Amino acid sequence: MPYENILVETRGRVGLITLNRPKALNALCVALIDELGKALDAFEADDEIGAIVLTGSEKAFAAGADIKEMAGKSYMDAYLQDFITKGWQRVSTVRKPIIAAVNGYALGGGCEVAMMCDFILAGDTAKFGQPEITIGTIPGAGGTQRLTRFVGKSKAMEMCLTGRQMDAAEAERCGLVSRIVPAADLVDEAVKTADRIAGMSRPVVMMAKEAVDAAFDTTLTHGLMFERRLFHSTFATEDQKEGMSAFAEKRQPNFKNR
Ligand code: HXC
Repeated sequence: MPYENILVETRGRVGLITLNRPKALNALCVALIDELGKALDAFEADDEIGAIVLTGSEKAFAAGADIKEMAGKSYMDAYLQDFITKGWQRVSTVRKPIIAAVNGYALGGGCEVAMMCDFILAGDTAKFGQPEITIGTIPGAGGTQRLTRFVGKSKAMEMCLTGRQMDAAEAERCGLVSRIVPAADLVDEAVKTADRIAGMSRPVVMMAKEAVDAAFDTTLTHGLMFERRLFHSTFATEDQKEGMSAFAEKRQPNFKNR
């Protein structure tokens, strides 16, 4: 399918989506979000794909929602269109693992989309911020909620109230990103990481993802219960039998469901 705002390719079992509006620093216009949703749908439906990487350019993962496109919206437009919710949420509902590989600016909606992914790998040039306040609005796709859960109230509040950006080192220190790699190696490293995940048992990977996600949405008691039930469920898979037999037999597992 031809896309105008993204590039889509597969690298073995990994689906790679590259945001590609270089002249606008990958500002997230409606057409781009629509294409992103379609590409994610296609990778979800493709049995050959075990994990997804979402990236941008060296200068920008994405510099936010498209300010020029949204500038003229009325309250009624925003409300009736449920502006931002529609489409954007697709990133957070993907069931296969999705890694954000962030080089350069991840600002506003760009930071929010990165946080919708399962984890963020940062190039050493990455910069994260929620600058909406500087243009007279506030984050609308999870910035005040996910950022606060990831980095704590103080940092999230400062960033949302001042628009201050965080560099990659600070983002790693406070747990926003899982690790930093040299910018030039970022996409290869993300694909390598995604490929490692794609080599695991797919249903078990999906259970692990669901269980970690539950930690953000529930009490400890219910989260632990949910985890235990999923843990029990893994014993119904042939891949658990294979994984544990392979360990005992000192060989690599050959998971059937990947
Ligand atoms: C539309 C954008 C854009 C954006 C950059 N551009 N960000 N267009 N929407 N979010 C365009 C610029 O207008 C310019 O186009 C071109 O990209 C290059 O940008 P420059 O500003 O010239 O580059 P530079 O000087 O390097 O500065 C980079 C930057 C700056 C610091 C990232 O572009 C910037 O501050 N951008 C806006 C960041 C922001 O406020 N994001 C939050 C948006 S609100 P021309 O045509 O002039 O060359 C948001 C709300 C989300 O995301 C709510 C729910 C999703």
